[in-house]
Amino acid sequence: MDAQQEKVLILDFGSQYNQLIARRVREIGIYCEVKPFSMPYEQIQQFDPIAVILSGGPSSVYDEKSPKIDKRVFEMGIPVLGICYGAQLMAYTLGGKVVPADSLANREYGRTETEFDTSSSLFRNITAKSITWMSHGDSVQKLPEGFNAIAHSSGCPFAGFENNDKRFYAVQFHPEVHHTQKGTEILRTFLVDIAGAKAQWSMANYKQTAIDSIRSKVKDGKALLALSGGVDSSVAAALMSQAIGQNLTCVFVDHGLMRKDEGDQVEQIFSNYPINFIRVNAQKHFLEKLKDVSEPERKRKIIGEEFIRVFEQESKKIGKVDFLVQGTIYPDVIESGLGSNAAVIKSHHNVGGLPDYVDFKEIIEPLRFLFKDEVRQLGRELGLPEYLVSRQPFPGPGLAIRIIGDITEEKLSILREADYIFRSEVEKAKVPEASQYFAVLTNTRSVGVMGDGRTYEYTLALRCVSTTDFMTATFTKIPYELLEKISHRIVNEVPHINRVVYDITAKPPATVEWE
Ligand code: XMP
Repeated sequence: MDAQQEKVLILDFGSQYNQLIARRVREIGIYCEVKPFSMPYEQIQQFDPIAVILSGGPSSVYDEKSPKIDKRVFEMGIPVLGICYGAQLMAYTLGGKVVPADSLANREYGRTETEFDTSSSLFRNITAKSITWMSHGDSVQKLPEGFNAIAHSSGCPFAGFENNDKRFYAVQFHPEVHHTQKGTEILRTFLVDIAGAKAQWSMANYKQTAIDSIRSKVKDGKALLALSGGVDSSVAAALMSQAIGQNLTCVFVDHGLMRKDEGDQVEQIFSNYPINFIRVNAQKHFLEKLKDVSEPERKRKIIGEEFIRVFEQESKKIGKVDFLVQGTIYPDVIESGLGSNAAVIKSHHNVGGLPDYVDFKEIIEPLRFLFKDEVRQLGRELGLPEYLVSRQPFPGPGLAIRIIGDITEEKLSILREADYIFRSEVEKAKVPEASQYFAVLTNTRSVGVMGDGRTYEYTLALRCVSTTDFMTATFTKIPYELLEKISHRIVNEVPHINRVVYDITAKPPATVEWE
């Protein structure tokens, strides 16, 4: 089978780890998608996977309302792997028995020593003993007919089981989690040795497939893209430009809230592309709208609304477009599919998300199935400069939410300079684990002494966090010597700052941004 056609279907039963399963499968070199457990059987057939993985989840199979699976999935003749809840569901659906843990001792959470039957198909490539990551209360008590136990731990006699004739496999632990020492090998055995995958999926061939499919969809149509200069919209623009060239118009609204030189860099890169590139210099307009506004949510709302207004005006000049391009990426898709009920802490304004106000036929989301680091990889394949593809996250409302209190041209320029010094010093020193770092202009002034004179100037805060998912973060332990150097440079080189402080709060309880 063509490596492009090789697809794995991951049915999502609500595990917090399901994105990780997808990551591992793609790292092994096989394209996969995560779909809700309720995906209709006909669609599963149409998807035509070479294998199905049933994810973990928080439910109990014997609970009437718990998510179930269409039994016909087990009649498709393709290999199925159940993980945690998925393992229990496989046992339950095929006639085995699952029970709640009869005592706390039978529950397993965390690192667990597990023994494997290395003569089994699933564990043929690993050693007989290693650590796995468990997280379960319920356990399989009786296996369905035709299944054998192939792994156990002290609290779980059926840590792994298989029906090798039918190519059904199940593991109670989480192979996708790094703590499971042989997790990737187990997944690779399932996908390559058992399901026969060629595992040749790569970003280079993904790029070509994406270009071909954009071309066949857009044909001679016109597409419009709101370019923010962030990683996602830039990669989407580069991809679309290779696919349809002049038929793409990119509108870059410069709201004047970008970091030092950023607006010009975006223009410099994209005005060289064979596309219609329009930079709208709306700096003054945004400053006027934000005049005397201090409340963080109001700032965000104003910027979001004005952005849409400016973009709309500009796109009306272009006339009718057929497609609106958005830089939505896969984690957004998976999260919205789960119907996340997470509380709104801040109204995130993503420049990519602009539905229902331009006259267009259809939305194109060319990055819809890529994880963030895959988007970066695609950007490199497309020849975008490294500083752009490896750029750290930058909020849509930009520096407006890094200036506490009202926003003025002067404060913006103070912050830009100080932020630039901080970022370049952290980059130069290659501070390990610094995931995102920036400066915040606080609304506090304090007394200082410079030369022989008294000063009364701004306090600047530095924020640097270590995180993988930006949902939780710790402050990065930047060496004191470096902090000292940065503070010294900022106070000396940037007028109107006479004090620098370092933010040592984790998220939670703080957030990464100050507003
Ligand atoms: P918080 O401040 O919520 O930030 O802890 C988490 C991550 O999200 C980024 N962020 C935003 N990104 N639009 C964005 O696209 C926004 O409005 C926005 N606000 C915060 C923030 O920089 C951090 O990486």
